[in-house]
Amino acid sequence: DWTMAGYREQAIEKIRERVGDKKVICGLSGGVDSSVAAVLIHEAIGDNLTCVFVDHGLLRKGEAEEVVTMFRDHYNMRLIAADESDLFLGALEGVSDPEVKRKTIGKLFIDVFQNYANQIEGAEFLAQGTLYPDVIESVSFSGGPSVTIKSHHNVGGLPEKMGLKLVEPLRELFKDEVRALGRELGLPEKFIGRHPFPGPGLAIRCPGEITREKLAILREADAVYIDQIRKHGLYDEIWQAFVAILPVRTVGVMGDGRTYDYACALRAVTSVDGMTADYYPFSHEFLGETATRIINEVKGINRVTYDITSKPPGTIEWE
Ligand code: XMP
Repeated sequence: DWTMAGYREQAIEKIRERVGDKKVICGLSGGVDSSVAAVLIHEAIGDNLTCVFVDHGLLRKGEAEEVVTMFRDHYNMRLIAADESDLFLGALEGVSDPEVKRKTIGKLFIDVFQNYANQIEGAEFLAQGTLYPDVIESVSFSGGPSVTIKSHHNVGGLPEKMGLKLVEPLRELFKDEVRALGRELGLPEKFIGRHPFPGPGLAIRCPGEITREKLAILREADAVYIDQIRKHGLYDEIWQAFVAILPVRTVGVMGDGRTYDYACALRAVTSVDGMTADYYPFSHEFLGETATRIINEVKGINRVTYDITSKPPGTIEWE
C-alpha cells in the first residue's frame, strides 16, 4: 500500500544515496516547496545541509522572523539568514518600471545567493523544490514560441554556473502531494496552507517607486487585511489575497482634520493554477469592515478600494 509515510522514508533513502556525506545548500524562500524540500533533506543528512534565506526587504510583516524561528529554532537547521534589504532597496531606488524592478531583484538575488553559498565550504549540491509540473512545463515549452508577460524570478541556470549538482527531492510530486508530505514532516498546517507569494515580493504590490515608507504602510495594511480574512474563515477559499499600495495620495477627513494619505487596493482571487482567476465575491459587510479597520489602524492610508478585475484581462499581481 502506498502511503505518504512510506514515500517519506524512500525519499530520505534516495537523498542519502545521491549526496552521501557531501554538503548540500538549499535556498529557502519561506514558501511551501523550498520548506518541504529543506525539512526532508535535513531529515536525511542533518547538519550537512545548510539553508540560505535572503531577506530582500520586500517580505510581508513578520515573515523573515517566522522563517528563522521555524527552521533555526524549531527544526535546528543550519541556517544563514541574510538581511540584505539595504542592498535591494538601494538598487530599487528611483525604479518604477515593473520589468526593471523584476530584473533588478532577480539578478541581485542570484548574486547575493551565490555569495552566501560560496561561503559554505565543500558544498557539492544545490537543493531545489522543483515540482513535477515545473519539470513538465520546462520540457513542453522548451524551444517553442513563448510570450513573456512578466519575467519570473527563479534561479534557473544557477547550479551549472556555481558548479553544483542538483538535488530535487520533490520532482515527482504535485502541489497537493507536497503539502501532504509537509504535513507528514510536521510542518504547521497554517504554514502548509499559505497562499503563494511571488519572488519579487512587495515590490510588485507597490506600483511606482518603492520607498521604505510605502513598504511599511503596505505591510501594516496587508496584515490587517489577512487578519480579517482569517477571522472570517475565508483564507482557505481564496487562492491569493493581498494589498497593493497605490502611488497616489488622496484627501480625506478624520475627526475635525483633513488628511492627505495613500490609497490602497485590496485584491483577492480564486484560481486553480494561477493562470486564470476570478475576483473573490466578498460581502459588502466584509469589505466595509475591512476598510474601516485599515483606515483606523494603519497610519498613512485614508482610502481603500477593492480590485474587481479577473484574469484575464488583469493579472493577479498589479505588476
Ligand atoms: P500574475 O500576476 O502573472 O501571477 O497573474 C500569477 C501567479 O504567479 C505569481 N507570480 C510570481 N511568482 N515569481 C514567483 O515566484 C514571480 O516573479 C512572480 N510573479 C507573479 C503571482 O503571485 C500569482 O500567484
